[in-house]
Amino acid sequence: MNDFLEQGPKNPIKIQDNTFRDGHQSLLATRMRTEDMIPIAEQMDSVGFWAMEVWGGATFDTMHRFLGEDPFDRIRILKKYIKNTPFSMLLRGQNLVGYRNYADDVARLFVDKTSEAGMDIFRVFDALNDFRNFQTVVERIRANGKHFQGTICYSLTERRMGGDVFNLEYYLNKARELQDMGADTLCLKDMAGIMAPFDIAKLITELKKVITMPIHLHTHYTSGMASMIYLEAIKAGVDIIDTCLAPFALRTSQPAVEPIVATLNGTVRDSELNLNLLLELGDYIESVAPKYRDHLASHKMSVIDTGVLAHQVPGGMISNLVSQLRDAKALDRLPEVYKEVAVTRKELGMPPLVTPTSQIVGVQSVLNVLFGRYKMVTNEVKDLVYGLYGKTPIPVDEEVRKKILKNYKRGQTPITGRAADYLEPELEAARRKVGDLAKDDFDLLIYAIYPTTGEQFLKWKHGIEERPPDVMAKSLEDVKKEDEALEEARKQI
Ligand code: CO
Repeated sequence: MNDFLEQGPKNPIKIQDNTFRDGHQSLLATRMRTEDMIPIAEQMDSVGFWAMEVWGGATFDTMHRFLGEDPFDRIRILKKYIKNTPFSMLLRGQNLVGYRNYADDVARLFVDKTSEAGMDIFRVFDALNDFRNFQTVVERIRANGKHFQGTICYSLTERRMGGDVFNLEYYLNKARELQDMGADTLCLKDMAGIMAPFDIAKLITELKKVITMPIHLHTHYTSGMASMIYLEAIKAGVDIIDTCLAPFALRTSQPAVEPIVATLNGTVRDSELNLNLLLELGDYIESVAPKYRDHLASHKMSVIDTGVLAHQVPGGMISNLVSQLRDAKALDRLPEVYKEVAVTRKELGMPPLVTPTSQIVGVQSVLNVLFGRYKMVTNEVKDLVYGLYGKTPIPVDEEVRKKILKNYKRGQTPITGRAADYLEPELEAARRKVGDLAKDDFDLLIYAIYPTTGEQFLKWKHGIEERPPDVMAKSLEDVKKEDEALEEARKQI
């Protein structure tokens, strides 16, 4: 077994770099500015990554809201420097780059304009793995001649893959569905980093028997298992993996690229990337990273979250539960909430825990513990139970459904069709409301997806209002001064 990767035909692992998207989204609240990407953009292009993830997820939100940057400009600017490596983005299905389902007309225009700006690969996912929520965007991705990466959110109900819901058959069936939809590649998205290394090996081996498209693996370091996950996946024949340059890797981000390149060196799965070039690029990231250090969570010694190994609740969700309980002065009830999450999640149809379902299940679990089960129900839970997010992996508990939809404004019988079929077109109303403030369809989309903060951004962009200084924006000068002051203070002790 030891010579597993030492012999046989060459099959270089392909690597997608996520430094400019998931890296700083996971570690630094998505605050990296375009100006800090430009100095290494050309060199990044020369590495030979399969793709670079540079957009989507939370970037659209934070750029216009906090950075005063036009999200579409980032694609255009980076494209000037990165001419060979395809760009990838994370697209939340019918939620696009927001937190709710948008109408089909918004979804169509979004994919068209994003393609026009220079996006190449669309990684599309849905929080419920209900692929009907892919329909509209996929139609436009294909029409624009772009790459459709179909994604399955990886979820568990127990420590290992299996049980009644998220078992091997579940994933094989979802992969077949995506292949039938014409996906160019399959992405397994392990957003919480809970995949067990030997499970992914088995899953990839079995997937390779039923699908022909390349398999792309995305995981997070959160639980500490990610390097083992990748190594097992690579041995099992995974085609593409996601990594970040070391300074923006590990913790809740992706594994670092450098140790993987070094590990595979000389094997049949050698990435053939230039390690010295990667080290230089990492040095650059290290040199600008201090500008963003105030956003880095540094309250714990441990850089991994071992709790997730025990209860499968993703780290981001835990911090929300904690802050909700702290606000209610009931932090001592956290253990009860952990138990409640498992029960509530099952009753609500066992959704994978990812944006936005992780928040929906989390908030309701806390309410159930504090005020009695389903005595208070959020609107999002009502919408979920009614079917407005799509079909849950298992049916919602009948008693719970009756209780939740008792006085629901839309009715007591859930919808069973594609969620967006129940939404009225939104674009014309948005066009009317935003008026002259939107100079083109790109502006219109910023407003249609984020009406309040989008309008504010457009006022800044077109010089109608002056943008207030960003209190969290630091220069390297500021950082140097801070460090010198700290050094002085140390000398006094
Ligand atoms: Co991710």
